Amino acid sequence: MTTFQTAPVTLPAPLGGSLVRRIWRPGQDFDPAELAGRPRLELGSRSLADLEMITTGAYSPLTGFVGEADYLSIIEHLRLADGTPWSLPITLPVTPEQAAGLSGRIVLTHGGEPIGTLDIEEKYAAQKELEAREVYRTGDAAHPGVAALYAQGDVYLAGPVTLFEVPRGEFPRAHRTPAEVREVIEARGWRSTVAFQTRNPIHRAHEYLQKVALELVDGLLLHPLVGQTKGDDVPAATRMEAYEVLLRGYYPQERTLLSVYPAAMRYAGPREAIVHALSRRNYGATHFIVGRDHAGVGDYYGTYDAQEIFNTYSAEELGIRILKFEHTFYCQSCGQLVSPRTCPHDSSYHLVLSGTKVREKLRAGDNLPAEFTRPEVAEVLRKAYRR
Ligand code: ADX
Repeated sequence: MTTFQTAPVTLPAPLGGSLVRRIWRPGQDFDPAELAGRPRLELGSRSLADLEMITTGAYSPLTGFVGEADYLSIIEHLRLADGTPWSLPITLPVTPEQAAGLSGRIVLTHGGEPIGTLDIEEKYAAQKELEAREVYRTGDAAHPGVAALYAQGDVYLAGPVTLFEVPRGEFPRAHRTPAEVREVIEARGWRSTVAFQTRNPIHRAHEYLQKVALELVDGLLLHPLVGQTKGDDVPAATRMEAYEVLLRGYYPQERTLLSVYPAAMRYAGPREAIVHALSRRNYGATHFIVGRDHAGVGDYYGTYDAQEIFNTYSAEELGIRILKFEHTFYCQSCGQLVSPRTCPHDSSYHLVLSGTKVREKLRAGDNLPAEFTRPEVAEVLRKAYRR
């Protein structure tokens, strides 16, 4: 049993110095009666996820959807207008017709139900070509992030937001705000915590990265993204089941925390890796893993672009250590997980399966090799693909 020192745990300061919290408080914030008759705006799933990320502090220091000065500064300089590192424009798109009917404090709805408010301070034109080229590094509408950008409204609304209640989503037991994750880290006495972003089941390569990291730090925050993903990614419910069986069988319970990351996936590769890291700092992590083609899709990004982009900032600005890993796979000759840094054998000994290949095997009802995926995880996936 591991024991940790008893001196108080100091967690990293959130980006911007304090954790943003914009959850409506009865008696302290506005009276909901004031909202009667105010204009309403229905949010899609990505904007809903952004709203939660902002209001719970996961996107500290953002307090709302960004205005035009921040928008252009993020695109051009990978910083907010005040110089703070930030790499993805978190915007609220609407059509020009919608924008014309909205002003002042508006009520945000989802499924027709009020979920929060936006105080509109600005409306400005999206620069979609510029945004696609700079943020996604491509104008190709086949890129899922670019496709979403092109499909959305041409006007961005900006201003501070409030959320009435934190949604606990599909996985209420594992749905924690940054403040709640910080509490768990403190209670467990982890002096250092590595966060792991994933939108996939945990295969042996992922497990290897996490366990190498766990040799160096006290705790692992397994932080799967459960917001919107593209249609052929493994659904979050299947992944959660797979994470649970894996953690039960193969991870030290007292050094692992499974918690969901409610953001939507943008597939913006390097740019998204930065927000993934900064946001995990807000959740209290001291370290963040970035492996091969982090948050990438297809061939749009170089294998290690998402690692190199961190050189844009100083270590102090980032405030979270990036643990960079090369492509990892099983080597039959070494008899273990390796990377080009640790294995002398040629590729004929290496077991590398692409996501497409894995899905093909699952659809065909084939077994995934145990060197690639733990049998318990493979079984969860096979069952899900058989349904
Ligand atoms: S991601 O979109 O969330 O980045 P994924 O869940 O596949 O996709 O990856 C999670 C993390 O593991 C990322 O940091 C990614 O770079 C890393 N990773 C995934 N597979 C490998 C691998 N075989 N070798 C090294 N790093 C990997």
